[in-house]
This record gives sequence, C-alpha cells and structure tokens, in this order.
Amino acid sequence: MLTNGPVVDSSRAIGVFDSGVGGLTVLRALRDELPREQFIYLGDTARLPYGTKSAETVVRYALQAADALIGRGIKALVVACNTASAAALPSMRERYADLPVIGVVEPGAEAAVIATRSGCIAVIGTEATVRGGAYQRAICRRRPDAVVSAVACQMFVALAEEGWTSGAVARATAQRYLAPLSTPGSGSMPAAVADTLVLGCTHFPMLRSVIREVVGDTVTIVDSAATTARAARAMLSERGLLRLDETAAPMSFLATDGAARFAAIGARFLGCDIDSRAVELIDL
Ligand code: DGL
Repeated sequence: MLTNGPVVDSSRAIGVFDSGVGGLTVLRALRDELPREQFIYLGDTARLPYGTKSAETVVRYALQAADALIGRGIKALVVACNTASAAALPSMRERYADLPVIGVVEPGAEAAVIATRSGCIAVIGTEATVRGGAYQRAICRRRPDAVVSAVACQMFVALAEEGWTSGAVARATAQRYLAPLSTPGSGSMPAAVADTLVLGCTHFPMLRSVIREVVGDTVTIVDSAATTARAARAMLSERGLLRLDETAAPMSFLATDGAARFAAIGARFLGCDIDSRAVELIDL
C-alpha cells in the first residue's frame, strides 16, 4: 500500500489519467465542473492502446501511471480511461487507501440506468472493457432486471485519433460495429433493442455524430464525462478538498511518448490548444 496519510491540502492538483488522449474528453468536463481546480493530466501514449491488452497488463500500467501522479503530490485521482477503470480500480483503491480515486465506469453506469426506460442498455467500449464485464455488472447492480449488451469497437480509438470522425470510413465502421443494435436477434446481441447506448471509452465521444447517425434518434447516447465530473465534485466536497482559491489554475500535461503528437491530437479532444512545449515527457 502506498500512502502518506489522508490528503488534507485542497490546493493540490487533481491527477487525471488515460492510456492516451481520450481522457482529455473527461478533463474537458472536469474543467467545466471544477473551474477553480488545478489538473495534472497523464497520457500513457507510449503504451496505447490499453484496450487490446490483458487485464493483468492494464492493471500494471495503470498502477505505474497512478504512482507517477501520486509522486507529484495530487489530492485525488480521476481514472479517465474506461479500460483502466474497469480493470484496475479495485487494485488502485487498495494500493492508495487514503487517496480519493474515481473511475468512469460507475458514473457511466449510473447515467445509463437513469436514462433508460426499457431497461435494455447497450455498451460500446474497447475489447478489454467489454471482455471484463465491469459495465454489465455496474448496470445490473443498480438495475437487476436490466438487459445489457456489449460490443467491442476497438477501431473507433484509431479513428478518433486519426481525426476520421465523420465521412465514409467512420460511417462504414460504425455501421459494421453497431449493426447488432438495430437488428434484433443478430450476432451476440439479445433480441431486445436497446434504448440507451453507453459510450464506454473516452475516445468515443469524438465519434458521437456518426454513432448518432447510425443508431438513430430514438436511442439515448450516454457519455460518462459529465457524470464523472459531477461525481468528482461530490467526492471532493465530501472530503473538504475543493480548491477555494479564486486564482487561475493551470493545467499541466505529462505523456510517455510524442509530446508534439499529444498536443496536436489532444487539442481536438480537449477543445482548446495545447502547447507542445508544456507537455512533459516521462518514463513510467
Ligand atoms: N480511452 C481508453 C478507454 O476509455 C481506450 C483507449 C485504449 O484502447 O487505450 O477505454
């Protein structure tokens, strides 16, 4: 267990971690919800994707990333990666007993259960997230009669990074992956058609329009970024850790490879420019 005693200094930064740039969609929501907070974001760009790796490897990588952020004196950790949240959250909570740690899976499941009317929910995520079944369990814990289908859409990660978020290739890929959602009884999906679709990967909000085109207007699309940001606020407030300082709080960025690429691609995910000189390269 790694612990320095309970975190009490509310002026410290919040650590945010993802396998790459995807978690910047969560950082964007965190900044909106918690504008006074200071954030340190770590993207493990050297080892992306996590979504195709085994659970053991994802846990190991995630703990190394969290250790690096804890070494920078953070007051709380947001695991802004569904794959890492799904595989590594229990290990993290055990290892960092005194540190508030929040993932994106539970807030995403919560939002889905609130949104669904029929109880039929589809989750799309990386291979590892779908294989591990964390969303399926988190949804059924909240609504035991829910029918949950899950489809791995790993190629969406590459499309989002490439910026191919609309047009023929994105549409064809979305149609291929999401066909079971509109074809009752096909593939591994149950006959019930979902009324709610969870974007269970922090890269996928970048493809929201094309996903919407393919699934149609009647399906509610749930993205855990905003719910996670609200859950983070509640957790900090409960522990007396909200930053009260009115002065502007800078963001800082760490990456394990390719500072220029991180800044260029990350800007699209974050919705504002990232200066590549402000991206510090680290080894985990
Ligand atoms: N952004 C990560 C997630 O939310 C997935 C990307 C990857 O495969 O590393 O699951």
